[in-house]
Amino acid sequence: MSSEKVHVEHCKGVNGLDKVILREIRGCSAEVYLYGGQVTSWKNELREELLFLSSKAIFKPPKAIRGGVPICFPQFRNIGSLEQHGFARNRVWSVDPDPPPFPSNTSHRAFVDLILRPSEEDVKIWPHRYECRLRVALGPGGDLMLTSRIRNTNTDGKSFTFTFAYHTYFFVTDISEVRVEGLETLDYLDNLKNRERFTEQGDAITFESEVDKVYLGAPTKIAILDHERKRTFVLRKDGLPDAVVWNPWDKKAKAMADLGDDEYKHMLCVEAACVENPITLKPGEEWRGRQELSAVPSSYCSGQLDPRRALFSG
Ligand code: BG6
Repeated sequence: MSSEKVHVEHCKGVNGLDKVILREIRGCSAEVYLYGGQVTSWKNELREELLFLSSKAIFKPPKAIRGGVPICFPQFRNIGSLEQHGFARNRVWSVDPDPPPFPSNTSHRAFVDLILRPSEEDVKIWPHRYECRLRVALGPGGDLMLTSRIRNTNTDGKSFTFTFAYHTYFFVTDISEVRVEGLETLDYLDNLKNRERFTEQGDAITFESEVDKVYLGAPTKIAILDHERKRTFVLRKDGLPDAVVWNPWDKKAKAMADLGDDEYKHMLCVEAACVENPITLKPGEEWRGRQELSAVPSSYCSGQLDPRRALFSG
């Protein structure tokens, strides 16, 4: 087996959809579907799944896959005539034959470059041309790194404006025992209260009912502590100023065809996003955004979170 094959395997997934498996030498892995350009699995060296994927996920267009890391582009939510969270998550991406250099990732061998360009049908829905690139890479320590580059390729001189999110579903043992650190005292828009603006209290965020909030100007590092599993996820982001936190809780979960009734207990979405201030690109301009996830034992940082230490100590 060639070393290339060990790190990157192209194969078929659910319903015969194309998927790419990334493997890192210590046993960590990730799976990426070309449908949606979507990471659906991320495992540590013990082969433990770190992302939530619904047991009822529908791997069939036009429904986006419920779980993993859906890409929300060209919009987050449902503003105007476009569908909720945009269409990138229910289009078939291609493996990028000619990716531009991604300087920071050059030493990683387990990566794949994907690209989405609009079809003629897409241009009717959103009248713009673009190249939406995604590099998914596994770091040597098993970190999951997503880098996006979006370029305006309009030939009619028109700018376009978009919002974006990595809609990450973390797998948690019990949502009632989860704490999120890094969002305290921030302002947020509450989607459950007509997007009214509030200020978060000073304590770490815990969960006892439905949550759907957009935290504004969130720090570059956020930690999600799964007490029961003694695991901390550290999310690092760049170019994505906001952070969305979502859990549908019991009633909404029951109403969702592609989520098991009790599965809300084992998921938490914390999404690096750009929602409040949309990005505008002139023709030829490019935007970059990035999200890096790592999972470390909670003992490294319990009580006195320092995500930098947590990231580099394990
Ligand atoms: C979150 C939104 O990001 O995604 C929620 O803040 C929304 O309002 C949720 O319900 C799920 O969206 P969808 O379209 O995947 O069901």
